[in-house]
Amino acid sequence: MYISKIALHNYRNHKTRKYEFSPSINLITGENASGKTNIVEAIHYLSLARSFRGVDDEELVLTKEDYAEIDSEVFEGKIRRDIHILITKKGRSIIVNNKKVSKLSDLSKVVNVLLFEPKDVMLFRGSPKERRNFLDINLSKKYPSYLEYISHYNKALANRNEILKAGKVDENLLKSSTELLVKYSAPIVEYRMRYVKDITDILIKITRALTGEDNKIEINYKPYISPSSDFKAAALEAFNRSLESDLRQKVTTIGIHREDFSIRLNDREIDIYGSQGENRLVALALKISPYFLIEDKDKRPIIVLDDVMSELDKNHQDQLIKFLKKLGQVFITATELNIDGATQIKLTKNM
Ligand SMILES: Nc1ncnc2c1ncn2[C@@H]1O[C@H](COP(=O)(O)OP(=O)(O)OP(=O)(O)O)[C@@H](O)[C@H]1O
Ligand SMILES: [Mg+2]
Repeated sequence: MYISKIALHNYRNHKTRKYEFSPSINLITGENASGKTNIVEAIHYLSLARSFRGVDDEELVLTKEDYAEIDSEVFEGKIRRDIHILITKKGRSIIVNNKKVSKLSDLSKVVNVLLFEPKDVMLFRGSPKERRNFLDINLSKKYPSYLEYISHYNKALANRNEILKAGKVDENLLKSSTELLVKYSAPIVEYRMRYVKDITDILIKITRALTGEDNKIEINYKPYISPSSDFKAAALEAFNRSLESDLRQKVTTIGIHREDFSIRLNDREIDIYGSQGENRLVALALKISPYFLIEDKDKRPIIVLDDVMSELDKNHQDQLIKFLKKLGQVFITATELNIDGATQIKLTKNM
């Protein structure tokens, strides 16, 4: 899929701007604070209806204005779709081909964006939440049932934590809420472990393309209970064992919301032994890997690399660009960069 046009109105520092894009590489350049990340943030907003910078919608509206708009034309092969997003202080509305979209999972089918931002270099060294987010976002896009399990699980988890926080814990309520957690977590663990297995080979191939070298890469997923025929019994037993600490801490201390994975690059843990550059390249490869899990070329996601190039040496920059040229639509932001054949959008401050 690709975005052919975007029009921004009152979106962050973009008062009224229109941009046309190519279905291959688009290079957005300009000095610091010229609005490069704001453009790719708007592109990403089309897929998840939220900012990747983790801010409230209100912050996206140009200071002193009441609303912001993103209008866009998107292609899936020859199928054209028009998207209109209106962001106000009271909420937002999303319209695709004149029809209101209320289910967000429908939106990522229209626009699917894989984004790499500078903080992703910390993906393996930072908190497990970031790594779970990577899995949850990509699994939810691929399998609507996964999204359902996760939302059921999160509701059950919030409920169990409420029960634990009460002055006197109701044992029956706690028991049934624990059973719900176990029920919803069984498929989630399976989905996650299968996904990690599926992307390992892809990760090795992308890393080879990016470094020009063969690397041994293993992803080690750490489920709270390994999938097996008696998952339920094993999980209930684990919850039983942690009951005391749950009651003491007044929070659910085990479960899929505490799971994590780690990566070994050439037999060493990348978060502990890997160089900054290795962390960056493998994190980048991981973030791009879902692209290759989608067989229908027309449905393959749009790739956004915000501010990645300047941190790489010339050789790695060249290898990355060579690799990206073989993919579909790509957006790259940089203060200064030249890429042969790319469509370049030059921003200046105070446009
Ligand atoms: N709601 C808003 N209203 C007005 N201006 C905003 C709003 N939100 C952000 N800005 C401004 O937008 C400007 C551009 O930000 P952006 O992050 O897109 O820059 P950039 O080109 O990516 O810069 P860098 O090269 O430093 O990453 C900043 O000066 C910021 O203060
Ligand atoms: Mg930026």
